[in-house]
Amino acid sequence: MEIVENLCDITIFGGHGDLAFRKLMPAFYHLCNDKYLNSESRIITVARQNMSRSEHIDLIKVKLQEFLTKKDFNELQFEQFSKKLHVVEIDFDDEKSYKNLQSLLEEYPDRERVNYLSTSPSFYGSICKSLSKFELITSQSRVVLEKPIGRDLKSSRKINVEVLKYFQESQIYRIDHYLGKDTVQNIMALRFSNRLFMPLWDSSNIDHVQITVSESVGVEGRWGYYDEYGAMRDMIQNHLMQLLCLVAMEPPCSLEADSVRDEKVKVLRSLRLMSPADIEQKTVRAQYSAGSSEGGPVPGYLEGEGMSESTTETFAALRVDIDNWRWNGVPFYLRSGKRMRGRNSEIVIQFKNVPHSIFANKGSCISENKLVISLQPKESIQLKLMNKIPGLSDQMRLQQVDLELNTPLQTTHKPDAYERLLLDVIRSNPTLFMRLDEVEAAWKWADVILEGWAENIVSMKSYSAGLDGPSAAMQLIARDGRSWHDE
Ligand code: NDP
Ligand code: BG6
Repeated sequence: MEIVENLCDITIFGGHGDLAFRKLMPAFYHLCNDKYLNSESRIITVARQNMSRSEHIDLIKVKLQEFLTKKDFNELQFEQFSKKLHVVEIDFDDEKSYKNLQSLLEEYPDRERVNYLSTSPSFYGSICKSLSKFELITSQSRVVLEKPIGRDLKSSRKINVEVLKYFQESQIYRIDHYLGKDTVQNIMALRFSNRLFMPLWDSSNIDHVQITVSESVGVEGRWGYYDEYGAMRDMIQNHLMQLLCLVAMEPPCSLEADSVRDEKVKVLRSLRLMSPADIEQKTVRAQYSAGSSEGGPVPGYLEGEGMSESTTETFAALRVDIDNWRWNGVPFYLRSGKRMRGRNSEIVIQFKNVPHSIFANKGSCISENKLVISLQPKESIQLKLMNKIPGLSDQMRLQQVDLELNTPLQTTHKPDAYERLLLDVIRSNPTLFMRLDEVEAAWKWADVILEGWAENIVSMKSYSAGLDGPSAAMQLIARDGRSWHDE
């Protein structure tokens, strides 16, 4: 069955960069195979290098073979996909070169246009300006901005102001690919379609929330970028904050983009800004030293690049407080790090214990109920409940069992987050994208911590690559009489 999606020309700026090869092209390839791209739509790569269309197609083929699994790559399907591929040579610093794009786009002046800015944010303003100068922006145009937008509130505002000179807010899609993950969207389904959770989802019943995003990889050839940003700007200010918002927000009045974003922004504005004393007690920053990963030795963050000094954190852990009625007194513990023991991303909602245990004098302990939402490596949702161990023993013995809430996938191919989000841009659905006020509220909160770190209020800790992060992160949560879910 042919699904008829909007007909559009999609231009990828930075189309020969890491993100474009690793994520965007594979996502477009799958969308094309699954008939989610209009058969006439074109994918136009903007590259600095001069190359013919056939050279470009050969390069994309090599990259797809590198980044897709063997079973996902198919010669015949690629042939179909390649019909959509075009390339134009542009150097962002040479405005005249946009003429090349103009000639191509003007072949179909009435088509919808998606401009995906997969470049350093420092180019966002100048790209939009050039698009405008060459009259390539129409009322049907959209622009997708990659994260992180800026390094702080000030620089983020500057970038947004520049882009807003040429595109209206409704045409801007600020991407956070965590929002495209199926399990992340399932948080809303779970919370707002199950009455069961409604009366439990607050400070009367929830003890605390943990959000962890651990990666076993290091900076993967992106040192130049990463060293300027670090874990707080690369992961916490955006991906983890968005997860926190979905867990903490009030029910939106509908699934309309602005209803959902209104509720998320209220959470971000309720985040307690940290005092210097809070920064000292409630935040941890650390850098990895040499260790081992996936069975082999790996160098430390600095040694890997032959650097002698850097104040960039590759790990961050924080206790976050939300000052509103629902979450009063419920800490949210966040942590994220590179070169950790394994790849593990999860959200743990830990409920309070029963008010009184009738099993205690029979020697049975009751563990708190937990809802564990795993995003990676496996996507799953488990509700941990207490249950009687079957048998005739005169002692009532209890055990914790997992109620699995996983839906079997209907198709063989599990869509990547970028597929969902690119399709939403094509369909003009901004629900899963960040609005300007969300980005700014998240920076406002993060800036205070980053400034405290810059003033050395809390010292940089170290952790061995391939282990569980710095001991200070365990102490952070232990001080409140709690422990990380995986300890
Ligand atoms: P890369 O550095 O790999 O790619 C940037 C691209 O921009 C390159 O293709 C480069 O061209 C091009 N470019 C740079 N300067 C110019 C210029 N003057 N004229 C024309 N083209 C130019 O970056 P990434 O792909 O890693 O990242 C892109 C964006 O996506 C960033 O904002 C990043 O923060 C974000 N992002 C990246 C992720 C990732 O996993 N890579 C994940 C999440 C977000 P050339 O090839 O010629 O050098
Ligand atoms: C990106 C960060 O946004 O997310 C990377 O820039 C990080 O540093 C990546 O590795 C993690 O994404 P995922 O989907 O693999 O968890």
